[in-house]
Amino acid sequence: EKGTYPFYMLKEIDEQPLVTRKIIQAYQDINGELTIDSDITKAVSEADRLYIIACGTSYHSGLVGKQLLEHIAKVPVEVHVASEFVYNMPLLSKNPLFIFISQSGETADSRAVLVKVKELGYKTLTVTNVAGSTLSREADYTLLLHAGPEIAVASTKAYTAQIAVLAILADVTAKVNGIERNFDLVHELGIVANAMEVLCDSKEEFEKMASEYLSDTRNCFFIGRALDYYVCLEGALKLKEISYIQAEGFAGGELKHGTIALIEEGTPVVALATQNDVNWNIRGNAKEVLARGANVCTISMKGLETEEDRFVIPEVNELLTPLISVVPLQLLAYYAALHRGCDVDKPRNLAKSVTVE
Ligand code: M6R
Repeated sequence: EKGTYPFYMLKEIDEQPLVTRKIIQAYQDINGELTIDSDITKAVSEADRLYIIACGTSYHSGLVGKQLLEHIAKVPVEVHVASEFVYNMPLLSKNPLFIFISQSGETADSRAVLVKVKELGYKTLTVTNVAGSTLSREADYTLLLHAGPEIAVASTKAYTAQIAVLAILADVTAKVNGIERNFDLVHELGIVANAMEVLCDSKEEFEKMASEYLSDTRNCFFIGRALDYYVCLEGALKLKEISYIQAEGFAGGELKHGTIALIEEGTPVVALATQNDVNWNIRGNAKEVLARGANVCTISMKGLETEEDRFVIPEVNELLTPLISVVPLQLLAYYAALHRGCDVDKPRNLAKSVTVE
């Protein structure tokens, strides 16, 4: 039930702190240690390469998951869009493990890959929100998101839940393999949940930003580097999906290779700056578009902020920033759609589960 909320999407955005806390609990053992079925961590450890297969928002969380699994568990990962992978398979490693990320567990494009790789005899793991869904039943292993039903077509809490679960998978695999971690993930995810709450309590600010930057624009660009780039892809998908504003996410460094030609006087550009190593670079990219007339809205993280930034998100572990930097982008999309009178929960031409290829 959406209760007093005008739309499920807003309710589901607000549920993210709670879902993050529920995930921590669901994956803790009686001693408070994060734990995952040993068959799964064994399958991950034995694989020489992980292939993450997904669509849409789940593909975007897979991109973040790759960074987490590679940084924390030191396993090489490739991420593929299911509809491409199925007919255009890359050369596979000798001993791959396929990880399907799907909120619904019913996405036909992802299932087509699952069927194909099973025929080839490979091991499969599904990360899904729906126990008993097709992808969960048909894979060798399942990890659940514990996000509760997601009703709005635009995925929000499933995205952050997917990232949290992949972080836990990375952390537990590292532990099993004796790889040193320099942070306590339970503690860090707790900080994330609190930061999400701060952002959910700042709705008025994001509503103002949406009217300032997006009220009568035809297009919008999101720029970022490293993990911020992946979040930009997701922010752009959210905005176009529900507000019908043409939106694209770009790697900051790629702008000068073509995209910058699209920048006109007043074009909104949302720049994410939460990554220490590339903070200087993304700020340079923001200056480049500013000089060409863009209406730049920089969202940075505490500790990396400058005076021109429009919003500063609370500080969290640098690997986990997508869990919170996405929240302002979800809310910007929500308010932009609301102001345009769009049906936020049921955007045109879209279904919640895409069960055709
Ligand atoms: O249920 P799935 O996670 O497999 O769905 C994949 C995409 O169809 C889905 O994420 C879609 O992109 C969302 N509507 C995005 O908000």
